[in-house]
Amino acid sequence: KVYNDYFYDEPAFNTHDGGYIPLEVPDVPEHKLNIPGILKPDKETDTDMWYTVDAQPGETQILPGEKTKTWGYNSSILGKTIILKEGKHMHVTLKNDLPVLTTFHWHGLNVSGPYVDGGCHAPVYPGTSNEIEFTVDQPAATLWLHAHPCPETSEQVYKGLATPVVVQDDIESKLPFPRNYGVDDIPVVLQDRHFHKGNQLNYKEDYDPDGVQGPTAMINGTVNPYFDVTTQKVRLRFLDGSNRREWRLHFDDDLKFTQIGSDGGILPEPVEFTHLMMVCAERDEVIVDFRGYKPGDEVHLYSDDVPIMTFKIHEFAPDDTKLPDHLIDMPPFAKVDKNAPVHKAAMSGMDESVEINGKKFDMQRIDDRQEVGKERIWEVSNSNEMDGGMVHPYHMHGTQFRVLSRNGKDPYPNEHGWKDTIGVNPGEVVRLQVKFDFPGVYMYHCHITEHEDGGMMLQIQAYDKQDPHKKYKLMNMDTL
Ligand code: C2O
Ligand code: CU
Ligand code: CU
Repeated sequence: KVYNDYFYDEPAFNTHDGGYIPLEVPDVPEHKLNIPGILKPDKETDTDMWYTVDAQPGETQILPGEKTKTWGYNSSILGKTIILKEGKHMHVTLKNDLPVLTTFHWHGLNVSGPYVDGGCHAPVYPGTSNEIEFTVDQPAATLWLHAHPCPETSEQVYKGLATPVVVQDDIESKLPFPRNYGVDDIPVVLQDRHFHKGNQLNYKEDYDPDGVQGPTAMINGTVNPYFDVTTQKVRLRFLDGSNRREWRLHFDDDLKFTQIGSDGGILPEPVEFTHLMMVCAERDEVIVDFRGYKPGDEVHLYSDDVPIMTFKIHEFAPDDTKLPDHLIDMPPFAKVDKNAPVHKAAMSGMDESVEINGKKFDMQRIDDRQEVGKERIWEVSNSNEMDGGMVHPYHMHGTQFRVLSRNGKDPYPNEHGWKDTIGVNPGEVVRLQVKFDFPGVYMYHCHITEHEDGGMMLQIQAYDKQDPHKKYKLMNMDTL
């Protein structure tokens, strides 16, 4: 079966509300797609790995003419791809060479909060560094690192502080997937920007409480990119790294592609699509098969009706690799205690009025509690009206969850694997099964970053039975 619709409720696509800025075809020459390099470990042994991640200001040649002032990790924009190996113990030095405070949030990584996880409570002050340690204990997946100082997440991510993180394990590495990084396995970070005079970004001028958008698609930091296809099959690790934009992806000729991974892992079964919609912070790994095209052909990737990237077909060897019908085993759904309370996250409002459970984020307040290691049901809802409302991408730190249902019906076909972010339609209730592995304080929020910064965020304490009221030092960014 090949799915050919976007699943989401079309009246709520962000094209329909007042502030929407459609993408435009940029009037600049095409440019080879930037492929972020792989971050070199400072040191690696059989059991441990050391990295230094350096948040730094820089200048990037994005458009012809003046360079754009940007921020990045070990790079002038975005960053190097960080490889994490399942089972290894990581030591990461977080270095801040920016003129302002930042935090390093490992989106999708199963580590303890609030300090290692790197949300708002883990500031790294300008000119200083912090060390974190964690053991990689989760399946192969495409995660990401991004800035998360509250309430400045949006502006810092907009300037460039976001980079792919790839978890590798022994299960994924045996599957017949392309995995030659940069050749047939590439990250595709989807973002949109508004370039002002002198090719500069101006976050404040473009500010919109429902999320900053720009008319220009920027992919891995490249505008009007092309990628040279030299193998029949190419694996694209899509990340919606935009502040607010949804991407509705499709290719020329309605070329079909196969999704093999979601946010937190490989899907139990591959799913074939011609169209795929992504909401902010989601990752979708797909394999595109270019059989049927010949050297010299060009295939375009679109969002809505705007071409955003060109695939230039070169000579390639025939590749008859077949994907198995079954990719990985998801553990059976653990039993949830029938008497346990159902946790709720009711997202409401738009613009400045956004809230969860009728509240705005308070860094000092714990809004919910859940015992570590216990599976619990979460009901996540969006009370926006269908017409003119928004799809809110709901994200939880500290967990990869399972999607049980959407308004009582099956989740979308690509939602049967591990997820940490899910688009919730207006008027919808999504049921999730959620477990935390480590005690700590974790944020959960809308990942339209301006909604998050605007207070559409709460925090939960995951606790050990032995120490249910452990105290964490919670920051108060406003006073810094
Ligand atoms: Cu990707 Cu709280 O964030
Ligand atoms: Cu996160
Ligand atoms: Cu939202």
